[in-house]
This record gives sequence, structure tokens and C-alpha cells, in this order.
Amino acid sequence: MSNDAHRAPGDPSPDVGDHTPDDACPGDPAPVDDDAAPNDGTPPDDAGSTVAVEWRGEATNDEINVLHAEAFEHRVLDDNWLTPLTTLSLGWVTARDEDGLVGFVNVIWDGGVHAFIEDTAVAERVRRRGIGRRLIAVAREHATAAECEWLHVDFDDHLRSFYFDACGFAPTNAGLMQLR
Ligand SMILES: CC(C)(COP(=O)(O)OP(=O)(O)OC[C@H]1O[C@@H](n2cnc3c(N)ncnc32)[C@H](O)[C@@H]1OP(=O)(O)O)[C@@H](O)C(=O)NCCC(=O)NCCS
Repeated sequence: MSNDAHRAPGDPSPDVGDHTPDDACPGDPAPVDDDAAPNDGTPPDDAGSTVAVEWRGEATNDEINVLHAEAFEHRVLDDNWLTPLTTLSLGWVTARDEDGLVGFVNVIWDGGVHAFIEDTAVAERVRRRGIGRRLIAVAREHATAAECEWLHVDFDDHLRSFYFDACGFAPTNAGLMQLR
């Protein structure tokens, strides 16, 4: 990441506040139709089409904590997701069916041209229906609309097919350091 990639204060910035494309601020990028078929060249999955995938969709801390615990196999925590999501992230994507939140991804941001995919999670009961791919497609559309140039992700080996083949990421060198 380079420092000159960061926007100066006062530059037009993507919608970092807690609002949806329906109440966009002046200078926001053009709205993106998230209910449209994913623009990754693939048609919407039949089963997945009953699931609403939304940029900055509504979700409670409890809902995200339950989904995260299931996806990453840990006890349900009491984390506050909404404060960092609404104050630090470029945005997030939710997937919701009639029974509740079934998908989530956080799109974190360096303030400039780099956006980062974090905590991609789909509920077990609706996996392998294209919902994960749709979450990433919406994240990609909005990062592009926010004038980001790069979308980053890291993941374990077993998800190479998901991120490379289904979502369109390219392999690259990356580094990771465990701090504690
Ligand atoms: C990874 C995850 C988000 C994928 O969500 P999903 O909705 O099931 O994914 P999709 O249905 O969009 O998958 C599209 C394609 O990606 C590949 N894929 C998805 N999950 C995969 C897996 N676990 N292993 C191997 N390939 C996978 C398949 O090719 C799949 O197409 P197919 O079902 O026709 O074979 C979901 O399995 C999950 O929440 N896992 C636990 C949390 C996690 O590991 N998150 C990633 C952190 S980096």
C-alpha cells in the first residue's frame, strides 16, 4: 500500500456513513443494482435467487456473531460489529432469506485504492448455492464504484476453487504474520 493511494481530506469519498444507496451523499459513486444478476458472467443460482444480497444491508451484532461462530467454528461471541463496520469499512454485504441472515462479508478499506475482503461467511444450510459468490460479486461492484483499484483476500488452501475459480481472484504473493 502506498501513502499516495490515500485520498486527501475533502476529496470525494465513498459512502462510509451508515446509509444505503437510497440516501446517497453528494459525490457518492453511482448506485449499483444489487438485485441484478451478478456481473461476474454467471447467471444467478436458482436456489440462491430466493436470497436477497445487499450492500450495507441491515444486520444486528447478534446476527453477525451467530453466523460468524457457525462459519468459523467458535462459540458465539458478543462482539460489536456495527461500530467498526459503519466507521471504518468501505462497506459490507449481507445475504438474507426469510429465516434471517445467511451471508456476510466485510469490505475493509485503506482509505484509498485498496479494499480487503474479510470474514466471508455463509450459513451451512444454504452453502453451495452461489451465495458466497454473490457476496463477493457485490463487494467487487461497490469497491469498483468507490474507485478502488485492488480487491485483496487471503484464505486457506481448500478455498482456492471458491476465490480463484468462482469469484475471479488471481493468485499473487502475499504475506501473513501471526502476532499473538
Ligand atoms: C467459503 C464460503 C463462504 C463459500 O460460500 P458458498 O455460498 O457455499 O459458496 P458458493 O456456493 O458461492 O461456491 C461457488 C463455488 O466455489 C467453490 N467452493 C465453495 N465452497 C467451497 C469449499 N468449501 N471447498 C471447495 N470449493 C468450494 C465451488 O466450486 C462452488 O461451486 P459448486 O458448488 O458448483 O461446486 C462458505 O463455505 C463458508 O462460509 N465457509 C466457512 C467460512 C470460511 O471459511 N470463510 C472464508 C474465509 S477466507
